[in-house]
Amino acid sequence: MISHGTNSGGIPAGRAGRMTGRVIALANQKGGVGKTTTAINLGAALAQSGKQVLLVDLDPQGNASTGLGIGPERRTASTYHVLTEGRPIADVTLRSGDLSLFVAPASADLAGIEAEFSDTADRSQRLRAALRNDSDNPPTHCFDYIIIDCPPSLNLLTVNALAAADTVLVPLQCEFFALEGLTQLLGTIKRIQTRLNPQLRMQGIVLTMYDRRNNLSAQVAEDVRLNLGDTVYQTIIPRNVRLSEAPSYALPGLLYDPHCAGSEAYRALAGELMRRDAALIAA
Ligand SMILES: Nc1ncnc2c1ncn2[C@@H]1O[C@H](COP(=O)(O)OP(=O)(O)O)[C@@H](O)[C@H]1O
Ligand SMILES: [Mg+2]
Repeated sequence: MISHGTNSGGIPAGRAGRMTGRVIALANQKGGVGKTTTAINLGAALAQSGKQVLLVDLDPQGNASTGLGIGPERRTASTYHVLTEGRPIADVTLRSGDLSLFVAPASADLAGIEAEFSDTADRSQRLRAALRNDSDNPPTHCFDYIIIDCPPSLNLLTVNALAAADTVLVPLQCEFFALEGLTQLLGTIKRIQTRLNPQLRMQGIVLTMYDRRNNLSAQVAEDVRLNLGDTVYQTIIPRNVRLSEAPSYALPGLLYDPHCAGSEAYRALAGELMRRDAALIAA
């Protein structure tokens, strides 16, 4: 890891007067649907497009941190300390490789946070404060995109992510029960909008692990589009073994095998996301 050209916290210096960065929570309470793979590869693709990107790992398992080369031994300062001690994000942030991709890593003690915070009044707003109010130079001023990788549960960590986010991006695996669980997630998003974060919007739904040899994948994709219309991104992420191999080399798929179908799909997803954002801002 290197951190040349950065301030003492290892993050890029804020640029005065610029628009604040977009905070995107990657959420779905189901495990194994592609949240972490999307956080890593969408983050890498946005960084390769010239954006400054921060990935905030909120999953106690820390798969996004490990997959980006920040092993458990390097996670002595983590998002746990940001949430519990109010430590600035810049203090825990590390750079991943040569990309303009930075990581606020997770650590296993995040798993106990629910009990630790049982009667703390601002317990749902800790991440929001860290991303938006922290000092003269909050992370939202330093990064174009802040991507939060959520754990597979609608717990306090996910609530912190949704309370801090501008938008939610939902990875949906192309399998039979894809739409089950989505109702519950959408209900949680509504509650957060009412109680904690009225500005929260849907970024979109991304179909993941699409298998073109399997009719079920095509049926599920069609069904999801019929039900959810334009919210569903045009880009579909295929099932691609290179994406699942990449984390064991501590690299995003985009660097491990830039030309595989999975890497191409994540570059397309980043392009679609930036186009949709530009249209949103212009509207
Ligand atoms: N498009 C894909 N093609 C093949 N394997 C994938 C793909 N996306 C994710 N995986 C693999 O599926 C498993 C679950 O994905 P992950 O991104 O960790 O899901 P989540 O974060 O939602 O639990 C991981 O082993 C990952 O490598
Ligand atoms: Mg994950």
